[in-house]
Amino acid sequence: MARLIVDTPGGTYPVHIGRGVLKELRRTMARLEPTGAVVIADASVRPIAHAVAKHLKAARVKNAIYVVPGGERSKSLAGLAALLAFLERQRIDRGGCIVAVGGGTVGDLAGMAASTWLRGIRYVEVPTTLLAMVDSSIGGKTGVNGVRMKNAIGTFWQPSAVISDLACLDTLPRNRYREAFAEVVKYAVAMDHGLFDVLLRESARLTAGDQDALEDVIESCATAKALVVARDERDRGPRAILNYGHTAGHALEAATGFRVSHGRAVAFGMRVAARIAAGLDLCSKRVVESQDELLASLGLPERAPHADPDRVIAAIAFDKKARRGKVAWVMPRRIGHAEIGHTVPGALVRRVVTRSLA
Ligand SMILES: NC(=O)c1ccc[n+]([C@@H]2O[C@H](COP(=O)([O-])OP(=O)(O)OC[C@H]3O[C@@H](n4cnc5c(N)ncnc54)[C@H](O)[C@@H]3O)[C@@H](O)[C@H]2O)c1
Ligand SMILES: [Zn+2]
Repeated sequence: MARLIVDTPGGTYPVHIGRGVLKELRRTMARLEPTGAVVIADASVRPIAHAVAKHLKAARVKNAIYVVPGGERSKSLAGLAALLAFLERQRIDRGGCIVAVGGGTVGDLAGMAASTWLRGIRYVEVPTTLLAMVDSSIGGKTGVNGVRMKNAIGTFWQPSAVISDLACLDTLPRNRYREAFAEVVKYAVAMDHGLFDVLLRESARLTAGDQDALEDVIESCATAKALVVARDERDRGPRAILNYGHTAGHALEAATGFRVSHGRAVAFGMRVAARIAAGLDLCSKRVVESQDELLASLGLPERAPHADPDRVIAAIAFDKKARRGKVAWVMPRRIGHAEIGHTVPGALVRRVVTRSLA
C-alpha cells in the first residue's frame, strides 16, 4: 500500500493506492466529518458504490447513491443540472461531501458539482479505471463537455482525498485497461526515466494485471502528476507537460469523430511528437525507437488508424492549447525529459502526420 500527498494552493490531500484501500474511506470520513454525503457512481460499478455506502454508514455518515449512466454523454450541463437537483433534494449543506465512484467521466462531473454546489463542498475520488487512477482523479480539474467542445466548461477544485483501490479494476474491460497505458507511457517519456525502465522490464506482468507491478506504476504516475500539479495548479505553464502526445492525439480524435479511443489517439500523438522532435534534432532517433518498442510491448502496437491526414492536420491548428494560432508542442529531448512550448514548421507536421497515417 502506498500513500502520497498532493500539495496545492487549492488544497492538500492524500492519495491512497493499493488493493483493499477502500476501507481508508472510514478514516477519511472521520477526518472530514461530513454532515451528509452523496455517492455519485458510474452505472457499471454499482457494487463498488454499495461497498462505499457501507463504509460511510460504518463511519456514521448518512448517504444516498446517485447513479450516472456510463459514458461521455453524462458529462454535460444537463447531467450536471440533474445531479445538482439531486443534491438539493438530499438537502446537502455546506458541510456535506460527495464521493465520486467511477472513471474520469464521473470524476469530472462529480467534481464540477462539488465545486458549484453552495459555492463549493468537499469531494472524495474513488477512481475505478486505470486512467482515472493515474491521471484524472488527481489535480482538481473538473468539468463537463460543451455542445461540441470536450471539457469546455469547468473549474479547478481539489478533492479532499483520492482512494485508488486496485480491486476496483477487476471488472474493467481489458481494452480500457490496456489503453490507459498510453497515459502511463506519457509520464515515463515526458518526466520519469526510471518509470520508463520499469515499464520495459515489467511489461508482461503489467499487461497480465500483476497487482504488485501495477501498484508501483500507479504510484509513480500519481507522484509525477502530483509534482506537476503542485507546481502549476491552474495550468498556466509547466502543467502543459501533461499534454505530451495530446496535440496530435486530440486532433486524431476530433478528425475521426472520436471513433479512435483516447488511449490509441495519445499513443499515435506520442509517436508523431517524438518523430517531429527527432526531425528538429531535439532528440535522437533512439528516443523514437525506444518509445515505439515500449508502446508495442504494452499492447499499443503501431497500426496506423484510419483517418484523413488533411483533417488531422487541420484539427491540430484548432488545438485548445493554441495561443494566437501558434500550437505549442511538447517535445521529448530524451527519455524522461520533455519540454513545453515548441513551435513546429507546418511542413514537418504535415510530413510526419501523413507518414504516420500511411
Ligand atoms: N480531470 C482531469 O484531469 C482529466 C484527465 C484525463 C481525462 N479526463 C477525463 O476523463 C474521462 C475519461 O475517463 P475514463 O477513461 O476513466 O473513462 P470513463 O469514466 O468514461 O469510463 C470508461 C467506461 O468504463 C466503464 N467503467 C468504469 N469503471 C469500470 C469498472 N471498474 N468496471 C467496468 N466498467 C467500468 C464506464 O461505465 C465507461 O463506460 C474523459 O471525460 C476525460 O475528459 C479528465
Ligand atoms: Zn489523456
